[in-house]
Amino acid sequence: MIKPVKKAVFPVGGLGTRFLPATKAIPKEMLPVATKPLIQYAFEEAVEAGIEEFIFVTGRNKSAINNHFDHAFELQSALSKDDKTDILSQVSDWTPKSGQIAFVPQREPKGLGHAVWCARNFVGNEPFAVLLADEMVLNPKQGLLSQMVDAYDKTGGNIIAVAEVPEADVSKYGILDPQSTDGNLIKAKGMVEKPAPENAPSNLSLTGRYILQPEIMEHLAEGRASSGGEIQLTDSMQKMLPSSDFYGFKFEGKRFDCGNRVGFLEANIAYALEREDMAARVKEMLKTYIG
Ligand code: UTP
Repeated sequence: MIKPVKKAVFPVGGLGTRFLPATKAIPKEMLPVATKPLIQYAFEEAVEAGIEEFIFVTGRNKSAINNHFDHAFELQSALSKDDKTDILSQVSDWTPKSGQIAFVPQREPKGLGHAVWCARNFVGNEPFAVLLADEMVLNPKQGLLSQMVDAYDKTGGNIIAVAEVPEADVSKYGILDPQSTDGNLIKAKGMVEKPAPENAPSNLSLTGRYILQPEIMEHLAEGRASSGGEIQLTDSMQKMLPSSDFYGFKFEGKRFDCGNRVGFLEANIAYALEREDMAARVKEMLKTYIG
Protein backbone atom coordinates (compact mmCIF):
# COMPACT_ATOMS: atom_id res chain seq x y z
CA MET A 1 0.00 0.00 0.00
CA ILE A 2 1.25 3.49 -0.86
CA LYS A 3 1.35 5.69 2.23
CA PRO A 4 -0.04 9.18 1.49
CA VAL A 5 2.21 12.26 1.79
CA LYS A 6 0.96 14.42 4.65
CA LYS A 7 4.18 16.07 5.88
CA ALA A 8 6.41 18.65 4.25
CA VAL A 9 9.87 19.94 5.12
CA PHE A 10 10.87 23.48 4.20
CA PRO A 11 14.64 23.95 4.47
CA VAL A 12 15.13 27.65 5.17
CA GLY A 13 18.45 27.55 7.00
CA GLY A 14 20.72 28.78 4.17
CA LEU A 15 22.69 32.00 4.27
CA GLY A 16 21.33 33.47 1.04
CA THR A 17 24.77 34.80 0.10
CA ARG A 18 23.81 35.44 -3.53
CA PHE A 19 21.32 38.06 -2.33
CA LEU A 20 23.57 39.98 0.04
CA PRO A 21 23.26 42.66 1.24
CA ALA A 22 19.44 42.27 0.93
CA THR A 23 19.60 39.09 3.03
CA LYS A 24 21.86 40.43 5.77
CA ALA A 25 18.97 40.81 8.23
CA ILE A 26 16.03 39.33 6.26
CA PRO A 27 15.92 35.65 5.28
CA LYS A 28 15.98 35.06 1.53
CA GLU A 29 12.73 33.14 1.85
CA MET A 30 10.99 36.33 3.09
CA LEU A 31 11.80 38.30 -0.06
CA PRO A 32 8.51 39.17 -1.77
CA VAL A 33 7.45 38.12 -5.26
CA ALA A 34 4.69 40.47 -6.44
CA THR A 35 2.62 40.39 -3.24
CA LYS A 36 3.83 37.62 -0.92
CA PRO A 37 7.11 36.28 0.45
CA LEU A 38 8.65 33.29 -1.33
CA ILE A 39 8.01 31.03 1.65
CA GLN A 40 4.26 31.75 1.65
CA TYR A 41 3.99 30.57 -1.96
CA ALA A 42 5.75 27.31 -1.04
CA PHE A 43 3.53 26.86 2.01
CA GLU A 44 0.33 27.45 0.01
CA GLU A 45 1.54 25.04 -2.67
CA ALA A 46 1.92 22.40 0.06
CA VAL A 47 -1.56 23.11 1.46
CA GLU A 48 -3.02 22.72 -2.05
CA ALA A 49 -1.27 19.34 -2.29
CA GLY A 50 -2.98 18.07 0.87
CA ILE A 51 -0.08 18.50 3.30
CA GLU A 52 -1.18 18.70 6.94
CA GLU A 53 2.10 19.05 8.87
CA PHE A 54 4.68 21.70 8.05
CA ILE A 55 8.25 21.45 9.29
CA PHE A 56 10.55 24.43 8.81
CA VAL A 57 14.29 23.86 9.24
CA THR A 58 15.54 27.28 10.18
CA GLY A 59 18.86 28.99 10.80
CA ARG A 60 20.02 32.00 12.74
CA ASN A 61 18.28 35.31 12.00
CA LYS A 62 15.21 33.55 10.60
CA SER A 63 12.68 34.69 13.20
CA ALA A 64 10.85 36.74 10.55
CA ILE A 65 9.70 33.40 9.08
CA ASN A 66 8.31 32.22 12.45
CA ASN A 67 6.53 35.55 12.85
CA HIS A 68 5.07 35.41 9.36
CA PHE A 69 3.33 32.12 10.16
CA ASP A 70 2.21 33.20 13.62
CA HIS A 71 -0.85 35.08 14.86
CA ALA A 72 0.02 38.81 14.66
CA PHE A 73 -2.04 39.95 17.61
CA GLU A 74 -1.57 43.76 17.56
CA LEU A 75 -1.79 44.01 13.76
CA GLN A 76 -4.87 41.80 13.54
CA SER A 77 -6.68 43.64 16.36
CA ALA A 78 -5.93 47.00 14.73
CA LEU A 79 -7.18 45.81 11.33
CA SER A 80 -10.36 44.31 12.76
CA LYS A 81 -11.05 47.45 14.84
CA ASP A 82 -10.75 49.55 11.66
CA ASP A 83 -12.97 47.09 9.76
CA LYS A 84 -10.22 46.38 7.23
CA THR A 85 -11.49 42.86 6.61
CA ASP A 86 -9.83 42.44 3.19
CA ILE A 87 -6.36 43.12 4.52
CA LEU A 88 -7.06 41.15 7.67
CA SER A 89 -7.88 38.05 5.64
CA GLN A 90 -4.59 38.41 3.72
CA VAL A 91 -2.74 38.54 7.02
CA SER A 92 -4.42 35.65 8.77
CA ASP A 93 -6.76 33.48 6.65
CA TRP A 94 -4.02 31.30 5.21
CA THR A 95 -1.96 30.71 8.38
CA PRO A 96 -1.64 27.16 9.76
CA LYS A 97 -3.59 26.02 12.80
CA SER A 98 -1.92 25.46 16.16
CA GLY A 99 -0.01 22.17 16.17
CA GLN A 100 0.31 21.95 12.38
CA ILE A 101 3.67 23.70 12.18
CA ALA A 102 7.11 23.10 13.72
CA PHE A 103 10.38 25.01 13.57
CA VAL A 104 13.57 22.98 13.88
CA PRO A 105 16.90 24.78 14.19
CA GLN A 106 19.71 23.74 11.87
CA ARG A 107 22.47 24.87 14.14
CA GLU A 108 24.95 25.38 11.30
CA PRO A 109 24.18 25.73 7.57
CA LYS A 110 25.93 22.51 6.50
CA GLY A 111 23.93 22.04 3.32
CA LEU A 112 20.52 20.97 2.08
CA GLY A 113 21.06 17.28 2.98
CA HIS A 114 21.92 18.23 6.54
CA ALA A 115 18.88 20.53 6.76
CA VAL A 116 16.53 17.70 5.70
CA TRP A 117 18.18 15.34 8.21
CA CYS A 118 17.49 17.88 10.99
CA ALA A 119 13.76 17.19 10.44
CA ARG A 120 14.10 13.40 10.97
CA ASN A 121 12.27 13.18 14.33
CA PHE A 122 9.34 15.14 12.98
CA VAL A 123 9.15 13.16 9.73
CA GLY A 124 9.26 9.81 11.56
CA ASN A 125 8.48 6.77 9.42
CA GLU A 126 6.39 8.45 6.74
CA PRO A 127 6.94 9.68 3.21
CA PHE A 128 7.41 13.43 3.08
CA ALA A 129 7.74 16.32 0.67
CA VAL A 130 10.63 18.79 0.55
CA LEU A 131 9.99 22.24 -0.89
CA LEU A 132 12.73 24.78 -1.61
CA ALA A 133 11.03 28.16 -1.51
CA ASP A 134 13.53 29.78 -3.85
CA GLU A 135 12.32 27.59 -6.72
CA MET A 136 8.92 28.67 -8.00
CA VAL A 137 6.71 27.08 -10.62
CA LEU A 138 3.85 29.14 -11.97
CA ASN A 139 0.79 27.10 -12.90
CA PRO A 140 -2.52 28.72 -12.02
CA LYS A 141 -4.39 25.44 -12.69
CA GLN A 142 -2.45 23.10 -10.40
CA GLY A 143 0.59 23.70 -8.21
CA LEU A 144 3.73 21.65 -8.70
CA LEU A 145 3.57 19.62 -5.49
CA SER A 146 -0.07 18.75 -6.12
CA GLN A 147 0.91 17.45 -9.59
CA MET A 148 3.65 15.36 -7.97
CA VAL A 149 1.33 13.95 -5.29
CA ASP A 150 -1.07 12.82 -8.05
CA ALA A 151 1.83 10.99 -9.73
CA TYR A 152 3.08 9.58 -6.42
CA ASP A 153 -0.35 8.20 -5.51
CA LYS A 154 0.01 5.90 -8.56
CA THR A 155 3.72 4.99 -8.39
CA GLY A 156 4.88 5.36 -4.78
CA GLY A 157 8.66 5.52 -4.37
CA ASN A 158 10.52 8.80 -4.57
CA ILE A 159 9.69 11.61 -6.98
CA ILE A 160 11.82 14.61 -7.89
CA ALA A 161 10.60 17.51 -10.03
CA VAL A 162 12.85 18.02 -13.06
CA ALA A 163 13.06 20.68 -15.75
CA GLU A 164 15.20 20.94 -18.88
CA VAL A 165 17.90 23.62 -18.64
CA PRO A 166 20.34 24.88 -21.30
CA GLU A 167 23.45 22.69 -21.40
CA ALA A 168 25.62 25.60 -20.28
CA ASP A 169 23.63 25.79 -17.02
CA VAL A 170 23.86 22.15 -15.88
CA SER A 171 26.77 22.94 -13.55
CA LYS A 172 24.44 25.10 -11.42
CA TYR A 173 22.04 22.27 -10.54
CA GLY A 174 21.61 18.67 -9.47
CA ILE A 175 21.13 16.66 -12.69
CA LEU A 176 19.17 13.44 -13.29
CA ASP A 177 20.67 10.41 -15.03
CA PRO A 178 17.63 8.96 -16.86
CA GLN A 179 17.02 5.26 -17.48
CA SER A 180 13.62 5.20 -19.20
CA THR A 181 10.66 7.50 -19.78
CA ASP A 182 6.95 6.83 -19.36
CA GLY A 183 4.87 9.96 -20.08
CA ASN A 184 6.02 12.65 -17.68
CA LEU A 185 7.80 10.19 -15.36
CA ILE A 186 11.46 9.42 -15.94
CA LYS A 187 12.90 6.45 -14.09
CA ALA A 188 16.29 7.51 -12.69
CA LYS A 189 19.43 5.41 -12.65
CA GLY A 190 21.45 8.11 -10.98
CA MET A 191 21.84 11.77 -10.18
CA VAL A 192 24.77 14.05 -9.81
CA GLU A 193 25.24 17.41 -8.12
CA LYS A 194 26.46 20.30 -10.28
CA PRO A 195 28.31 18.34 -13.02
CA ALA A 196 30.58 19.96 -15.59
CA PRO A 197 28.64 20.15 -18.91
CA GLU A 198 30.90 17.49 -20.50
CA ASN A 199 30.12 15.03 -17.65
CA ALA A 200 26.40 15.73 -17.31
CA PRO A 201 24.20 12.65 -17.94
CA SER A 202 21.30 14.87 -19.20
CA ASN A 203 20.02 18.44 -19.01
CA LEU A 204 17.23 17.53 -16.56
CA SER A 205 17.80 19.67 -13.50
CA LEU A 206 16.33 18.86 -10.09
CA THR A 207 13.81 21.59 -9.36
CA GLY A 208 13.41 22.06 -5.62
CA ARG A 209 10.47 19.71 -5.00
CA TYR A 210 10.90 16.18 -3.74
CA ILE A 211 8.70 13.40 -2.40
CA LEU A 212 10.95 11.09 -0.41
CA GLN A 213 10.68 7.89 1.58
CA PRO A 214 11.84 8.12 5.20
CA GLU A 215 14.81 5.74 4.55
CA ILE A 216 16.62 8.75 3.09
CA MET A 217 17.27 9.85 6.69
CA GLU A 218 19.54 6.82 7.28
CA HIS A 219 21.68 7.82 4.31
CA LEU A 220 21.69 11.48 5.34
CA ALA A 221 22.86 10.45 8.82
CA GLU A 222 26.05 9.15 7.21
CA GLY A 223 26.27 12.17 4.92
CA ARG A 224 29.65 13.72 4.33
CA ALA A 225 30.36 17.09 2.86
CA SER A 226 30.97 16.92 -0.88
CA SER A 227 30.19 19.45 -3.61
CA GLY A 228 30.91 22.96 -2.29
CA GLY A 229 31.79 21.61 1.20
CA GLU A 230 28.08 20.96 1.94
CA ILE A 231 26.18 17.77 2.81
CA GLN A 232 24.15 17.27 -0.36
CA LEU A 233 20.70 15.71 -0.56
CA THR A 234 21.61 14.46 -4.05
CA ASP A 235 24.43 12.25 -2.67
CA SER A 236 22.06 10.44 -0.28
CA MET A 237 19.40 9.99 -2.98
CA GLN A 238 22.09 8.46 -5.18
CA LYS A 239 23.03 6.03 -2.36
CA MET A 240 19.40 5.05 -1.87
CA LEU A 241 18.85 4.27 -5.57
CA PRO A 242 19.71 0.56 -5.49
CA SER A 243 17.06 -0.10 -2.84
CA SER A 244 14.31 2.37 -3.79
CA ASP A 245 12.69 3.69 -6.98
CA PHE A 246 13.36 7.27 -7.99
CA TYR A 247 11.45 9.09 -10.73
CA GLY A 248 12.04 12.46 -12.29
CA PHE A 249 8.74 14.26 -12.84
CA LYS A 250 8.39 16.62 -15.80
CA PHE A 251 5.82 19.11 -14.61
CA GLU A 252 3.38 21.54 -16.22
CA GLY A 253 4.25 25.17 -15.53
CA LYS A 254 6.92 27.81 -15.86
CA ARG A 255 9.89 27.50 -13.54
CA PHE A 256 11.68 30.43 -11.90
CA ASP A 257 15.01 30.00 -10.16
CA CYS A 258 14.62 32.69 -7.52
CA GLY A 259 17.95 31.75 -5.95
CA ASN A 260 19.60 34.17 -8.36
CA ARG A 261 18.80 37.83 -8.80
CA VAL A 262 17.63 37.81 -12.42
CA GLY A 263 15.42 34.74 -11.88
CA PHE A 264 13.90 36.47 -8.86
CA LEU A 265 13.22 39.63 -10.86
CA GLU A 266 11.65 37.60 -13.66
CA ALA A 267 9.36 35.83 -11.16
CA ASN A 268 8.25 39.21 -9.83
CA ILE A 269 7.24 40.32 -13.30
CA ALA A 270 5.54 37.04 -14.22
CA TYR A 271 3.55 36.81 -10.97
CA ALA A 272 2.53 40.48 -11.21
CA LEU A 273 1.32 39.89 -14.78
CA GLU A 274 -0.92 37.09 -13.45
CA ARG A 275 -2.78 39.54 -11.22
CA GLU A 276 -5.76 41.50 -12.52
CA ASP A 277 -4.99 44.44 -10.25
CA MET A 278 -1.39 44.77 -11.51
CA ALA A 279 -1.11 43.32 -15.03
CA ALA A 280 -2.14 46.31 -17.17
CA ARG A 281 0.05 48.79 -15.32
CA VAL A 282 3.03 46.48 -15.21
CA LYS A 283 2.77 45.91 -19.00
CA GLU A 284 2.67 49.69 -19.60
CA MET A 285 5.62 50.17 -17.27
CA LEU A 286 7.67 47.45 -19.01
CA LYS A 287 7.09 49.11 -22.41
CA THR A 288 8.78 52.25 -21.18
CA TYR A 289 11.94 50.25 -20.55
CA ILE A 290 12.09 48.15 -23.68
CA GLY A 291 10.98 50.88 -26.11
P1 UTP B 1 20.56 27.44 -1.64
O1 UTP B 1 21.96 27.09 -1.84
O2 UTP B 1 19.76 27.89 -2.82
O3 UTP B 1 20.36 28.59 -0.55
O4 UTP B 1 19.81 26.27 -0.90
P2 UTP B 1 21.39 29.44 0.25
O5 UTP B 1 22.54 28.61 0.70
O6 UTP B 1 20.61 30.14 1.30
O7 UTP B 1 21.78 30.52 -0.85
P3 UTP B 1 23.17 31.02 -1.40
O8 UTP B 1 23.64 29.93 -2.33
O9 UTP B 1 24.06 31.24 -0.21
O10 UTP B 1 22.82 32.30 -2.11
C1 UTP B 1 18.51 25.83 -1.27
C2 UTP B 1 17.59 25.85 -0.05
O11 UTP B 1 18.15 25.06 0.98
C3 UTP B 1 18.19 25.79 2.18
C4 UTP B 1 18.19 27.26 1.78
O12 UTP B 1 17.63 28.07 2.81
C5 UTP B 1 17.37 27.26 0.50
O13 UTP B 1 15.98 27.42 0.77
N1 UTP B 1 19.41 25.42 2.93
C6 UTP B 1 20.61 25.45 2.33
C7 UTP B 1 19.29 25.09 4.26
O14 UTP B 1 18.18 25.07 4.84
N2 UTP B 1 20.42 24.78 4.97
C8 UTP B 1 21.64 24.80 4.39
O15 UTP B 1 22.64 24.49 5.09
C9 UTP B 1 21.75 25.15 3.04
